[in-house]
Amino acid sequence: MKKKWWHDKVAYQIYPKSFCDSNGDGIGDLQGIISKLDYLKDLGVDIVWLSPIYPSPLADEGYDIADYYGIDPRFGTMEDMEELIAEAKKRDMYILMDLVVNHCSDEHEWFLKACEDPDGKYGKYFYIVDAGQEDKLPTNWRSYFGGPAWDKLPGHEDKYYLHVFHKKQPDLNWENEEVREEVYKMVNWWLDKGLGGFRIDAIINIKKPEVFHDYPADRADGLCSIQCMLQEAKGIGRFLRELQERTFRLHDSFSVGEVFDADEDEITDFVGDDGYFSSMFDFGTALLGGDPAGWYRRKPVQAKEYIKAVYQSQKRLGDIGFYSNIIENHDEPRGVSHYLPEGECCVEGKKMLALLSFMVKGLPFIYEGQEIGMENKTFASIEEVDDCSTMHEYQVALEAGLTPKQAIEAVGKYCRDNARTPMQWDDSENAGFTTGRPWLAVNPNYKQINVKAQQADEDSVLAFYKKLAALRKSAEYKETIVYGDLILVPQEDENVMVFYRKSADKTLLVAANYQSVAADIKLTGQMNKEVLNNVRELHIDDGILYMQGYQAVVLEVE
Ligand code: GLC
Ligand code: CA
Repeated sequence: MKKKWWHDKVAYQIYPKSFCDSNGDGIGDLQGIISKLDYLKDLGVDIVWLSPIYPSPLADEGYDIADYYGIDPRFGTMEDMEELIAEAKKRDMYILMDLVVNHCSDEHEWFLKACEDPDGKYGKYFYIVDAGQEDKLPTNWRSYFGGPAWDKLPGHEDKYYLHVFHKKQPDLNWENEEVREEVYKMVNWWLDKGLGGFRIDAIINIKKPEVFHDYPADRADGLCSIQCMLQEAKGIGRFLRELQERTFRLHDSFSVGEVFDADEDEITDFVGDDGYFSSMFDFGTALLGGDPAGWYRRKPVQAKEYIKAVYQSQKRLGDIGFYSNIIENHDEPRGVSHYLPEGECCVEGKKMLALLSFMVKGLPFIYEGQEIGMENKTFASIEEVDDCSTMHEYQVALEAGLTPKQAIEAVGKYCRDNARTPMQWDDSENAGFTTGRPWLAVNPNYKQINVKAQQADEDSVLAFYKKLAALRKSAEYKETIVYGDLILVPQEDENVMVFYRKSADKTLLVAANYQSVAADIKLTGQMNKEVLNNVRELHIDDGILYMQGYQAVVLEVE
């Protein structure tokens, strides 16, 4: 693997709407982010990814972009953005934006012009298809957010347009060279401004099959999952290679793809030395427990599944490239609530998840609030939810016969708003996020879980994240943590994960007891040094490491 400038970094995702509000309108903004750069620097963060801040009707919270060259006034101005890039640079930090180019907003001028003249230039920017006899939908594909992936083209009763996400997110037609040229021009425009790179949204969806047709229905609605058509769509590599060559590669920028399902034999193309992307997220754990019937059928994640998924991803990528490792993001529930069994969401468990995420190979991404162990919120009714995806899953649950109370209980656990509640800075009103009324209610546990309290506590989750980040950068262990091989030490107890990280002159042993009960681990070599421990005691006797529940350690060994 060729060494790259970003390999030894620590990354952080900001959900701008919920991070820090500088002007009291209840919405986080760019000046708020600038005011927290020192906080991020102190945490050990180098790369900051901002979820979309472009002008948007916010049908899908900014993932519906109306102008790729602007900043939504809710978040600030272009001057604020330039200031953010410059202030980050002063601190040796890099800013990433979100590249959302599978679709734009239905309020983007391209789509408005396509509606005016579907047969003209801009009609070809989208997938616009004539209605079938008796108004039949072109295909029976279900959009990710529910309902058919086709809607009537505004102003044209006889035509449909494709949207694999929300109906306010029409898909861009990547087969059209003009669309691709528009995308490359825009990406380069931003990179020329000094951006460090991009996180690339929903990118696997840009390639559609050559022929559009129905697939067997998988629910009572007569529709089929988008996955069916994605599996048939071949040849995305051509687009991604062109994107990389025409943009990212010219700037040596960092790019990380939201890639859920790259085929095994494509991984080198995706993230090898000259991959389409620098890195891609590891969603191995995020997919656990899922059920095609809907969220209401999802199962809790078990420790042994988590351990297995982490290891499988590591093995899959090996020395080919770098995953970007996440515990959660803005589309997932809070990791500590989701991956620790109900009733066991404790400080040690939170630190254990953090330690695993930082000590496997790859680029660690912290999602805002994860560093203080922010937890899921309880949603008492669907009225408290903003997320369009949850609205749909709630309906699915109702249709399956759940009562409203059961439905919100079931889908609330996976609601994307769990991760989108405002950042908890302190114990003042609204967690110090805003002086106004927050756009989404603050998690009431902010009195206990907040940055200020944890800054004053050397045993806090925040303090532990800082240690992990510092360790990754330390002269002593950097080479081993960033590039060392990962060698699993299989355990009889499936709830325990043990592995070595090994470089030429150093070996680290990482052990995590992913359960509330104690566990013994047989050590094979001699321990030289305790490097990190999420509890105070380290109990080793006669070659046995006695681990408390949720204990996790890093030891330097012979
Ligand atoms: C990605 C984003 C998600 C968004 C979707 C459509 O999955 O992470 O938030 O809803 O793409 O853009
Ligand atoms: Ca604001």
